[in-house]
Amino acid sequence: MNKKIVLRDDEMPRQWYNIAPDIPNGLKPPLDPETNEPMGPEKLSAVFPMGLLEQEMSGERFIDIPEEVQEIYKIWRPSPMVRATALEKALGTKAKIFFKNEGVSPVGSHKPNSAVPQAYYNMKEGVKRLSTETGAGQWGSALAFATSKFGIECKVYMVRVSFDQKPYRKSMMQMYGASIVASPSEETNTGRKILAEHPDTPGSLGIAISEALEDAATRDDTKYALGSVLNHVCMHQSIIGLEAKKQMEIAGEYPDVIIGCCGGGSNFAGIAAAFVPDYLEGKKINFVGVEPASCPSLTMGKLAYDFGDVAQMTPLLYMYTLGHDFIPPGIHAGGLRYHGMSPMLSALVRENIVHPMKVHQLECFEAGALFAKTEGIIPAPETCHAIRAAIIEATRDLNDPKTILFNFSGHGLIDMASYDKFYAGELHDYDYPEEDIAKSIANLPKV
Ligand SMILES: Cc1ncc(COP(=O)(O)O)c(C=O)c1O
Repeated sequence: MNKKIVLRDDEMPRQWYNIAPDIPNGLKPPLDPETNEPMGPEKLSAVFPMGLLEQEMSGERFIDIPEEVQEIYKIWRPSPMVRATALEKALGTKAKIFFKNEGVSPVGSHKPNSAVPQAYYNMKEGVKRLSTETGAGQWGSALAFATSKFGIECKVYMVRVSFDQKPYRKSMMQMYGASIVASPSEETNTGRKILAEHPDTPGSLGIAISEALEDAATRDDTKYALGSVLNHVCMHQSIIGLEAKKQMEIAGEYPDVIIGCCGGGSNFAGIAAAFVPDYLEGKKINFVGVEPASCPSLTMGKLAYDFGDVAQMTPLLYMYTLGHDFIPPGIHAGGLRYHGMSPMLSALVRENIVHPMKVHQLECFEAGALFAKTEGIIPAPETCHAIRAAIIEATRDLNDPKTILFNFSGHGLIDMASYDKFYAGELHDYDYPEEDIAKSIANLPKV
């Protein structure tokens, strides 16, 4: 038995898979909040390049990956798929646990899979500067890396709590040549307004998105890049599952359970999408999307049209949401602190194809520690959520020899301060009170 299954460079997929045309009952279009009518590419082209907008609205199943993007992907792709034999042994389970290791990218997560094509299509259309938000810092580092490859300037609005928790993410972005500011910041109208009302706010992805969008909308030389949620981002991530499918074939296995953690939905969509057509043809697969109990958009949110940001600058997206002004607590999985969920993943949950699961912070850190001791790799706190769910699935019945595949979305080498707090007993579980969720859901836009 091979511990890890690796593909050669020339076996890397040359096309992304777009799940949009295969989602039963389809996706609802984004709406213009001024008219409540579907929003076409013209208005969005103020902040996104046409190359990406075409992908966002595409009904094609397969889209070619440009050669220049493939060349950069080859720095770390195809990524290995590994059998977690030591973890299986520690759990005493007959289940086979495989993980797809996206932590091998230059910045340590799946995020460059979309950052590289996003920088590429912007470069193609002559864009000189990109603005973005980052939660955990993984997306910001990924875009900083990708823009450095194409000679584009990069400005990152980093959620305050992560800015304070993860100083080395800032160093990394700086090393790739990006400039970084804590969000909310004094640099935008949105940031100044929020700081005036809540000077001690931990920030949120919803606020940072508003700031980055305002930056792009008020400068001619700048467009905006989003690290998750949107259809084109999920599609770029489909390379994860396309590779994993080939690797499963080589291993002579097929997954009964597919697991990913869910922030905005991109790494989950990435590992899951390629397997959904098989499911629709009758194959039995249990897709499990894992989210934190402190930010439970899939398990406790509402499927509705909502803004993607706090300042209501985005189009209305049809998604599971906790309300655009929901500020999650400062948990240590910054990449999972988002009020909404990608419309693609939301539609898969609506169709009962994907089953959401919520887990608490402490059980996730415990799962991460066990993974480090057994498989040797220190996971990002976000990834610990997927590991926790894999452990739950593998131990439901220790004699069930099912095959589990989870996405190892990133390593945690720059998250050690969070692990220190965990070992010092300073981390706590947090269930967001239902009445507070009801309050922010009451502010959903009327459509
Ligand atoms: C390591 C890691 N995993 C998962 C996520 C969640 O994002 P998404 O749901 O878009 O994959 C993030 C986001 O920052 C991340 O950094």
